[in-house]
Amino acid sequence: MSKAFAHNSGAVLQLTGWSPTLIVCYSSLTMELTLKSARRSVDEIPAPLAVVGVWGGEFSEEANKLDAKYHNSLSKMMKKLHYKGDFGETLLLPLSSRDEAPGFALLFGLGKKRGVSIDTVRKAGAKLVQEIAHLGFKEAATETFLSGKFGKKEASYALAEGALLGGYTWNKYKTTTASSKRGEKLRLWLARAAGAAVDRAEIVAEAVNYARDLVNEPPNILTPAELARRASAMAQELGLEVEVWDETQIQQAGMGAFYGVAQGSANPPRFIQLTYKPQHPAGRVIALVGKGLTFDTGGYSLKPSESQIAMKCDMAGAATVLGAMRAIAKLQPQVEVRAYVAAAENMISGAAYRVSDVLTSLSGKTIEVLNTDAEGRLTLADAITYADRQGADAIVELSTLTGACVVALGEKVAGLFANDARWGREVQEAAERAGEKVWSLPMEEEYLELLKSSTADIKNTHGLTRAGGAITAALFLAEFTEKPLVHLDIAGPAYSEKSHSLGPAGGTGFGVRTLVELLCAAQPD
Ligand code: BES
Ligand code: ZN
Ligand code: ZN
Repeated sequence: MSKAFAHNSGAVLQLTGWSPTLIVCYSSLTMELTLKSARRSVDEIPAPLAVVGVWGGEFSEEANKLDAKYHNSLSKMMKKLHYKGDFGETLLLPLSSRDEAPGFALLFGLGKKRGVSIDTVRKAGAKLVQEIAHLGFKEAATETFLSGKFGKKEASYALAEGALLGGYTWNKYKTTTASSKRGEKLRLWLARAAGAAVDRAEIVAEAVNYARDLVNEPPNILTPAELARRASAMAQELGLEVEVWDETQIQQAGMGAFYGVAQGSANPPRFIQLTYKPQHPAGRVIALVGKGLTFDTGGYSLKPSESQIAMKCDMAGAATVLGAMRAIAKLQPQVEVRAYVAAAENMISGAAYRVSDVLTSLSGKTIEVLNTDAEGRLTLADAITYADRQGADAIVELSTLTGACVVALGEKVAGLFANDARWGREVQEAAERAGEKVWSLPMEEEYLELLKSSTADIKNTHGLTRAGGAITAALFLAEFTEKPLVHLDIAGPAYSEKSHSLGPAGGTGFGVRTLVELLCAAQPD
């Protein structure tokens, strides 16, 4: 069951006399969502819609308060309409109108309290925003769905993050006449919320949505040069150091593996470096490396056309790293962070690299190319070597690297590979705290045999069999640094064909939340 009452809000339901304690504003292309934290409870906030939670048939504390204020009309209707409060199930009820009082209550189902996790609250935030916008309200107040399992800070953070991620839309290239281009505005009050947590959620969600925007851009617009321009603009805006190399500098630096991949495209490559320096530099330097293939046709080992459809997402690792830098610049943790992106396009032309070519990487190691579609590891090899030589103490690298990882873990879970157990655990725990799903896969050294080349030092694939393809890719990358390295294969979760619990189809911004969590871990609250 949903929506017992259809209505047309906005024009009828106006309100006056509110005073925000904190204003957080997020705007995407056409939806503008403003979050406001309040100390008051839902029934005290004069918004036209009051949202309260129902845990599998049981009212939350805030729902009970609202119910009492309105002479138990909510509980009576709930029973009468057999409303259960399964997750996402909503019931819209009118409230007898008084001055500055809500006109409607929205019961929001959260499912059974037993077994609930903070992820429930995050998903509730996303669903809630979509539901409120769908109902046509321009303003609402919601509780933060405390359950006893997590505190006010956690719930405020998760609800705000979910709302801002769920409110993301992508329709930049729809013409203004299209109905979906209609601007939606929503002001959402978070009752009894922790203001600082909401503030932080806004920074992180905005960074995730920034990464989504980059992934969603079509590849004719987001060329390597354009990616570099956007990274520079972002760095300048937020006070990060930035350096961009063009194709000549890339060649002169000796990045032969990266350049080999890039050489077939009319859109020249760029090597992008961003640096965040804390106010009092102490401790580790962490390097983030993101795969930046703005399009992957497969090269001469050409992908069938259906497999090319989603390949604008092959720069999702880069988008994630840039998104994370955006949040880091605002959150200012006490750790130095350096981001590296080798941006290129994997194309076919008379100048493109061939199967059997031998490339000399920045490390000096020679690589025999057996498959031009295994291009990501070639670009990453040089980026990892460079990050290492620049003084990284530990490296996290993210890439849409292998279809094999998608076969192993599906579209929701990233593969985590670590050459150092401690660093691997640190990243894995950060992902858990961030609510992003990663699963550790082995760096089985026996498979390194498969990458032995009779011509060069190493080959980029192990030939006809696809068995263990995610692992051999990780082993290949690990040949280019002795430093602690975590490789996250995000080929599955970086891009979603369908809309999902935290947003629409397209780029997901997967990994931004994990990186921010990882880099801020040393931060005092
Ligand atoms: N960009 C692809 C991997 C990919 C697949 C990303 C599906 C997102 C969704 C990568 O460059 C690639 O083509 N990898 C090959 C490697 C193989 C040739 C060893 C693959 O997975 O087939
Ligand atoms: Zn490829
Ligand atoms: Zn690729």
